[in-house]
Amino acid sequence: MTVTQSLTRHLKNPELFVDLASVPDRNVAAATKRFSVFNPSTGELLAELPDMDAGDVSKAIDKARSAQEQWGALTARERSDTLWRWHELILNHSEDFAAILTAEMGKPLAEAKSEIAHAAAYLQWYAEEANRIYGETISAPSNDRRMLVIKQPVGVVGAITPWNFPASMVARKISPALAAGCVVILKPAEQTPLVAGAMFALARMAGFPEGVLNLIYASEGDAVGRELCSNPNVRKISFTGSTEVGRLLMRQCSDQIKKISFELGGNAPFIVFDDADVDAAVEGAIQAKFRNAGQTCVSANRLYVQSNVHDEFAEKFTQRVCALRVGDGFDPNVAIGPLIDDRSLAKIEAHVRDAVIKGGTIRCGGNRIGKSGTFFEPTVITEVASTMRIAQEETFGPLAPIIRFDDADQVVREANDTVYGLAAYFYASNLKRVWRVAEALEYGMVGINTGRMSSEAAPFGGMKQSGIGREGSRHGLEAYLEMKYLCMGGL
Ligand code: SIN
Repeated sequence: MTVTQSLTRHLKNPELFVDLASVPDRNVAAATKRFSVFNPSTGELLAELPDMDAGDVSKAIDKARSAQEQWGALTARERSDTLWRWHELILNHSEDFAAILTAEMGKPLAEAKSEIAHAAAYLQWYAEEANRIYGETISAPSNDRRMLVIKQPVGVVGAITPWNFPASMVARKISPALAAGCVVILKPAEQTPLVAGAMFALARMAGFPEGVLNLIYASEGDAVGRELCSNPNVRKISFTGSTEVGRLLMRQCSDQIKKISFELGGNAPFIVFDDADVDAAVEGAIQAKFRNAGQTCVSANRLYVQSNVHDEFAEKFTQRVCALRVGDGFDPNVAIGPLIDDRSLAKIEAHVRDAVIKGGTIRCGGNRIGKSGTFFEPTVITEVASTMRIAQEETFGPLAPIIRFDDADQVVREANDTVYGLAAYFYASNLKRVWRVAEALEYGMVGINTGRMSSEAAPFGGMKQSGIGREGSRHGLEAYLEMKYLCMGGL
């Protein structure tokens, strides 16, 4: 048994998930070394997994390569059917998936359930999209030739996923790749590999052929990433994580001009204009800031509120934030789980200290909870200046800085004054303003009068140093397809 009772006691069908260590191919996972996965809320040991190395990755790539031809040659309908079966299996066991997710990541069970539903929605979307891969015919400039474009799978894909959405990020990368006819090697985050393992266990039952889906468990990502980026048989890297790691992987991919899709860091502004519905803006800000304890790439990082509505917004928002309960994600009353690790806790503490020294006012929270563990009070700081770290860096935690502004044009300039360009939000009602601001914000995604916008039907991704490419929607499928131009002459 590789999964402990601390995890199985939460499961309805523990027999399905009790041996997650054996999910990677045994011939590949020769690793004798193991690493441990812990519950960040309780510190309990959840599982011991094989700690795979670059040699294991190389073997997995060979296996994937030999499976590519067969998988790519299936009809779209056959690939779609297998994705549908996987989708059904995950939905049938969604409660167990949510429990595994809460145990290894800490997010409240209700959020975990919503993430599993979102992950399943990607599988559904791409099971459908698999049947809608179209080429083109082009009117040729002369009658003796015909010109066409066909679409073909990119080939073997290396996917590296983060700890904050351990299920939906796996589904968002893998399902379009499979639909397009690609095969995949996945390295899930070392903190949260169990949901990915459980998804792969059910993928076997869904009938994916051997070698199509390959899982790499590893306690650190460097060697795995290097092998994926430098092995010529891997044709594409899809990565979600920090801009810093993205930059490193991009360098490693550059020797082979490998295709990449990167979803990286953000520094999302959330702007409340004076024509906004303030109550709706408060609710939107709670969603955009405190979902997943502020640990999302699209979390609102800087709240700009126009002077006329500043005090009302700050008052109502602070009241809502103070009422958010922090604790173990299995407690149904809890809205905020733990931070993922001590490093995250140290960063948020440093941001609070810096803000206070520079004149910020703590309206609520501001402290860690307890001497051990990684729980932090949901926090609101007002009188925030643009020189403070909280206004410049991604906090990735439950800390909301409120910045007062007067000039509507100036706030858009300030919102854009960052190297990041992932997500932005604003609340306003004047239609002219809505269009002007939506078009002026230099972000890949803009939420207008909403604090949440992720959807399998929409292109998710960023501008500037927030990434390259888009995931989700039909664009997410194109990312795994090569365009090939055929020119037939002598006709
Ligand atoms: C993220 O990539 O961090 C956010 C994902 C989501 O909003 O679903």
